[in-house]
Amino acid sequence: MATLSSPAVIGNAYPITDHTFDVVVVGAGGAGLRATVGCSQAGLRTACVTKVFPTRSHTVAAQGGISASLGNMGEDNWQWHMYDTVKGSDWLGDQDAIEYLVRNAPAAVYELEHWGVPFSRTEEGKIYQRPFGGMTTHFGKGTAQRTCAAADRTGHAMLHTLYGQAVRNNTEFFIEYFAIDLIMDDEGRCRGVVALKLDDGTLHRFRAQLVILATGGYGRTYFSATSAHTCTGDGNAMVLRAGLPLQDMEFVQFHPTGIYGAGCLITEGARGEGGYLTNSEGERFMERYAPSAKDLASRDVVSRSMTIEIREGRGVGKNKDHIYLHLDHLDPAILAERLPGISESAHIFAGVDVTKEPIPVLPTVHYNMGGIPTNYHGEVVTKRGGDPDSIVPGLMALGEAACVSVHGANRLGSNSLIDLVVFGRAAGLRAAEIVNPGEKQPELPKNSAELALSRLDHFRHASGSTPTAQLRLNMQRTMQSNCAVFRTGEVLEEGVKLIHEVWSSAADVHVTDRSLIWNSDLVETLEFDNLITQAVVTMEGALNRLESRGAHAREDYPNRDDANWMKHTLAWLDTSSQKVTLDYRPVHTYTMSNEIQYIEPKARVY
Ligand code: FUM
Repeated sequence: MATLSSPAVIGNAYPITDHTFDVVVVGAGGAGLRATVGCSQAGLRTACVTKVFPTRSHTVAAQGGISASLGNMGEDNWQWHMYDTVKGSDWLGDQDAIEYLVRNAPAAVYELEHWGVPFSRTEEGKIYQRPFGGMTTHFGKGTAQRTCAAADRTGHAMLHTLYGQAVRNNTEFFIEYFAIDLIMDDEGRCRGVVALKLDDGTLHRFRAQLVILATGGYGRTYFSATSAHTCTGDGNAMVLRAGLPLQDMEFVQFHPTGIYGAGCLITEGARGEGGYLTNSEGERFMERYAPSAKDLASRDVVSRSMTIEIREGRGVGKNKDHIYLHLDHLDPAILAERLPGISESAHIFAGVDVTKEPIPVLPTVHYNMGGIPTNYHGEVVTKRGGDPDSIVPGLMALGEAACVSVHGANRLGSNSLIDLVVFGRAAGLRAAEIVNPGEKQPELPKNSAELALSRLDHFRHASGSTPTAQLRLNMQRTMQSNCAVFRTGEVLEEGVKLIHEVWSSAADVHVTDRSLIWNSDLVETLEFDNLITQAVVTMEGALNRLESRGAHAREDYPNRDDANWMKHTLAWLDTSSQKVTLDYRPVHTYTMSNEIQYIEPKARVY
């Protein structure tokens, strides 16, 4: 069991409760829970610290499925999955990590099946698999059915199953604890994390041999996102404040089919089941942009095509500012069986009966390819000295918080759920190697909670005149208009100026309630402070990358430039001077084993 001491009073006179574990996982989405299960199974005393109840984590919203080359619905193999993922990443993905992902994918899906995920079934009782964008056979020649689905509620099914497994393996949960900052020692080792317990306002210091950040993406830097309001990239921001870099933050994925106005996700599985997009002329315009894959081209391609249609005056609706997604030609029985969730969402959020009318949709921020740089064991890396792959001891990152990088410049749909469980499992395996169960840990440095507590104290007493909600809106509007599907140097330069202005104006923030108990204004302010740092490095990284690659489409640099830009961006942030430092590290142009060759860059057409 965990050791728990009575509260000590430290720093700014805040009583703090100490806990000691072998491993502390922050976040209880798919990646966090899978890592938690692995660490617990390895006999490590494992805590899972989460700001929401585990089954409310954002993985619950994943719809269409999880990719793995099971070959249940036609021929398939991991080599084709690897090719598609490398191509989907626009050659920014690290090929050793991609090989690790696709080779371990089938076993990870069967593990979920055995643990209880209620996958949809074929007539023969096999796991049902649907086509998804960019997933092909024969290295781009055919269409793969590779996305394993539990109707259109796959993430929901996975999350509930994984939570059950974690409970079964005696993980200790700290639910509705908001992690504020990492505890780093002078040697650069992560030694734990400080958290605020939301319901009673108490402060907690978790000491651990290993901290695993699985805190999700930062979609809420934007105005319109499929991400939950909780997706504030808290782990990413903690890493920046710890003086470590984030990687490839300029690569923000727009999902082609967010419901117009509401932003809710309509799964790519809708197009996988035969749905298609039309413009105001009733034209299936994707045939022009992606003659082979059409509506099932990769997301960056479809989102750009939709944006061009709207810009050229062929959008639908009164303001000609969105596109139609048709499912009305499909058999209502198939819709009820395979797409019940989005049929309901379309009804609730767009007032549409999908069996009779098209759904109004718009590209909507959905996923962050960038995040905390890691190797394929989940260990956080940084560029130290001459070594771009030097490990940060005591710290791992997983899932959307991490940049491993298997998604490179653009993620293929259904590759995120598999990323969660493959690398969640990998982290558990690595933890079993590097963490000694029950090993006595050195005392924490005396000032170990100071960073967290002074930040908390600062915002708690913030008595300026600008409400957090106003600052957040200013940030979201700036990101939405200045760091969008298409970008130019001019728009990004203005974006850098505006986003720094938003950050500077946060000096005038007004927090209404001084309490630490259930103080949503304080928590939203801490979340805003997390978001704004990520918005700043995203905008600056985008301005500096002078090429178009995957989700980063520069109209002033329309081509991919492998000679100069086939490299990962690293961004450090000095929060006191608000200065961003950018550097680069090479893409891993080698594979994990000698069973597959490095896939050479070529033109990316669908
Ligand atoms: O469209 C979807 O169902 C989303 C899947 C994903 O982002 O992987």
